[in-house]
Amino acid sequence: MKILLLGSGGREHALAWKISQSPKIEKLYIAPGNAGTVNCGENVNMKADDFAAIKQFVLANGVDMVVVGPEDPLVKGIYDYFKNDSEISSIPVIGPSKAGAVLEGSKDFAKGFMQRHGVPTAAYRSFNGTNIEEGIAFLETLQAPYVLKADGLCAGKGVLIIDNLEDAKREFRGMLDGMFGEASATVVIEEFLSGIECSVFVLTDGTNYKILPEAKDYKRIGEGDTGLNTGGMGSVSPVPFADAEWMKKVEDRIVKPTIEGLKAEGIEYKGFIFLGLIKVDRDYAYAKAGDPVVIEYNVRMGDPETESVMLRIKSDLVDLLEGVAEGNLDQRILEFDPRSVVCVMMVSGGYPQAYQKGFPITGIDSVDGSVVFHAGTSLKDGQVVTAGGRVIAVSSYGSSKDEALTKSFTEAAKIQFEGKYFRRDIGKDL
Ligand code: AMP
Ligand code: GLY
Repeated sequence: MKILLLGSGGREHALAWKISQSPKIEKLYIAPGNAGTVNCGENVNMKADDFAAIKQFVLANGVDMVVVGPEDPLVKGIYDYFKNDSEISSIPVIGPSKAGAVLEGSKDFAKGFMQRHGVPTAAYRSFNGTNIEEGIAFLETLQAPYVLKADGLCAGKGVLIIDNLEDAKREFRGMLDGMFGEASATVVIEEFLSGIECSVFVLTDGTNYKILPEAKDYKRIGEGDTGLNTGGMGSVSPVPFADAEWMKKVEDRIVKPTIEGLKAEGIEYKGFIFLGLIKVDRDYAYAKAGDPVVIEYNVRMGDPETESVMLRIKSDLVDLLEGVAEGNLDQRILEFDPRSVVCVMMVSGGYPQAYQKGFPITGIDSVDGSVVFHAGTSLKDGQVVTAGGRVIAVSSYGSSKDEALTKSFTEAAKIQFEGKYFRRDIGKDL
């Protein structure tokens, strides 16, 4: 089988690494890919949302399946683009239809969907330019901290959590006034959920589903979860508190009603669902202390969770994706590796604020026994150089989480580039 994988980050390198191990794979293309994905297949200089170019490439190269890494092409409707074009309609796209991608593309839609299908989520209301004063009045009914969310995609920046009511009112007005452009023309105000987060990933063919290994990511730049938010500084899988009993609640209360809800609303969905969950530490109207509650849906895998999750899937990912495409995922096998995996992300100095690019990266070849995933790298005159804020992830197995962390930490120390920084406490809080 010939697969085209879209995207260029650490998530895509991890997907490429796993796909390339499949006995079913004849050729893997990654568009645009990065300096690491060349080790798993052939990079194609094509943007992940240039649908016309993707169509031409798929036809010219006999691609049998398109796997979509990031949300952008999905929200823009790549699934429907293929489905509605008779020349390429027989080529499966792994990812939801445009209508399904709205679960990530609009927080207001996602909240409404969860309410319609009884999926536990924070109490909320949505506001726009027509009911600003109602929003202010709603804020006054809530307890601090206040959670304000831009409805649309904001590259992970559209959520504000504010301690003080007056600040929350001002930021709320600012959001409606264009703080995030069109994305914050509608703002969701929701109840703050207190607890610990966990990412759960589901692969579905629209009817059947498989729950993949769960993971926890570490979003803050500083050790001890301090400082600014980032795209993710590391991940760990499994998550100790996500035991069988907890995962059964996730399945019964969240996964099943989500899949059934999609079906009931006639939304085609053949791809990954990323459940951003919180294990709440007190009772709410819709959940008891200890229960899982949904913070958000994403319609793709997480980054850097994928850099841990792929190591924990023992089965052939391409076989599972084939099951998604053919609608017989129930007949495919998903086995987990029981070991712990910790991923440590190395970032550019200054990130998540201003940082420089183009620094040579050395020492990758001396890494031994861990898996290196490139996130923001490129090739310049044959030399791997930094090309983003998140640069390289090192993922390791261990018989325990601590052993896996020590291994990742030891191997990450071998990779050098100017300004390199990484957190040494991934998974320590669990
Ligand atoms: P989101 O973009 O919806 O994932 O939100 C970004 C981050 O904000 C989440 O990962 C949580 O850490 C936090 N967050 C979002 N909604 C809530 C909430 N209702 N209560 C507490 N934290 C939240
Ligand atoms: N790790 C969180 C995300 O991918 O959105």
